[in-house]
Amino acid sequence: MNELLTVAMPKGRIFEEAAELLRKAGYGLPQEFDDSRKLIVDAPEAGMRFILAKPMDVPTYVEHGVADVGVAGKDTMIEEERDVYEVLDLKISECYLAVAGLPGYVEKGIAPKVASKYPNLATQYFKEQGEQVEVIKLNGSIELAPLVGLADRIVDIVSTGRTLKENGLVELETIVPITSRLIVNPVSYRVKDKLIDELVERLAKVIEEDEQ
Ligand code: PRP
Repeated sequence: MNELLTVAMPKGRIFEEAAELLRKAGYGLPQEFDDSRKLIVDAPEAGMRFILAKPMDVPTYVEHGVADVGVAGKDTMIEEERDVYEVLDLKISECYLAVAGLPGYVEKGIAPKVASKYPNLATQYFKEQGEQVEVIKLNGSIELAPLVGLADRIVDIVSTGRTLKENGLVELETIVPITSRLIVNPVSYRVKDKLIDELVERLAKVIEEDEQ
């Protein structure tokens, strides 16, 4: 039997772009991949098995070696240091991390509250700015926090800017641009080097062509 590559894919908004990239790179993926709610999808034609995880969890599956490779946002990689190799910038799901708040925000108190899905990143960012803040970890809908008085500011992903706008928030500072990355388990990279090198080469070619 041919050796399979297990790929951890993020469910949600990155998924479609990542699947399109793989298809463009010549990996035949079944229709079931897009339509079903299955969490494990075999793609024998591509020589791959996919596991579909929450975006923040993709590095965990790869680090523990249950997936050989994965597609992970740079945001998740900055937030938690992982024992994985980041081998390719896939240049998909472009967005950025920013500090946002209500318009006319003025700092009050000694340690203003900052809500974020990225507590480590937010803590580090404000430390570098020489600002003392209290970080409150939330799991989503971060924009809600300043609206209801849970936090003074937020650190979150901005993509189209619609969520901020529709909730009457404004961007205060840009932190860092974000794209999705191909990450690899170090042991898999030794054992399945040929398969992984081929994947990287084929994806890199598509990314380069798309940029022209
Ligand atoms: C992300 C992010 C923002 C929003 C930004 O949330 O946390 O809330 O998208 O996108 P926009 O600039 O295009 O409006 P997501 O939709 O992934 O869900 P979440 O709030 O549950 O994290």
